[in-house]
Amino acid sequence: MSSQPQQIRRNTVPQIAKRKGGEPIVSLTSYHAHTAAIVDRYADFILVGDSLGMVMHGMESTVGVPLDLMIMHGKAVVRGTKKALIVVDMPFGTYEESPNMAFRNAARIMKETGCGAVKIEGGKRMAETIRFLTERGIPVMAHIGLTPQSSHVMGGFKTQGRDEDTWPLHEEDARMVTEAGAFAVVLEGMVEPLAARITRQIAIPTIGIGASVECDGQILVLEDMLGLNPWTPKFVKVYGQLGPMIEDSVRRYAEDVKSRAFPGEDQVYR
Ligand code: KIV
Repeated sequence: MSSQPQQIRRNTVPQIAKRKGGEPIVSLTSYHAHTAAIVDRYADFILVGDSLGMVMHGMESTVGVPLDLMIMHGKAVVRGTKKALIVVDMPFGTYEESPNMAFRNAARIMKETGCGAVKIEGGKRMAETIRFLTERGIPVMAHIGLTPQSSHVMGGFKTQGRDEDTWPLHEEDARMVTEAGAFAVVLEGMVEPLAARITRQIAIPTIGIGASVECDGQILVLEDMLGLNPWTPKFVKVYGQLGPMIEDSVRRYAEDVKSRAFPGEDQVYR
């Protein structure tokens, strides 16, 4: 009798939503099939973040990231993974104008990449759009606090909630995206007491990036935690030093090519 290969199923949106207040949710960004395959073994969900514009393509901000680029990287990450829920960021200019526009572009992302959910930035102002998408079958992860796509309005990448008077606005954002049907919300660049208050107040998981251990889960940009970013933000813990490792490997390769030590006996077809 032949044995059936065990079917590996991806984490689903309801499974992630149910993790509220439970074991912390593990997530990382990934933009590329081979790294995604490694991350997939440990992450509950993987975000194909629009940070790829800066990390992979050297852009100054995420504002210039086109939809087609998100779709291309989204496809690569879905192909490279089996287990994690894949969430793809909707880039600036593809969802803010109207719920209809957001639906058209979100549906394209889901159909063409095979991902399980999209992420959009904005709280109260995006609540109507989040409701429109979720009622039509598109799971939405919200993103509030420091929202990089609005960095021009915010005057840069600024930690949110330093002034206690602003807390009610952030709390209202969190409540409204929850009521609109988001299944989780990223809290980015936010002081710890505000992140803790929001996490206590809403029924969906909060995923922190620079928002303290008070959140229901954490996300980091993979290249930041691997030491590939020449500048390390305060909230990043560096778990590997891939930058120096790559440089050392490239330097030794260059030396070998120049001294004709590469290709050697093992690399030659006889
Ligand atoms: O684009 C991104 O990588 C993100 C994370 C920082 C949450 O939105």
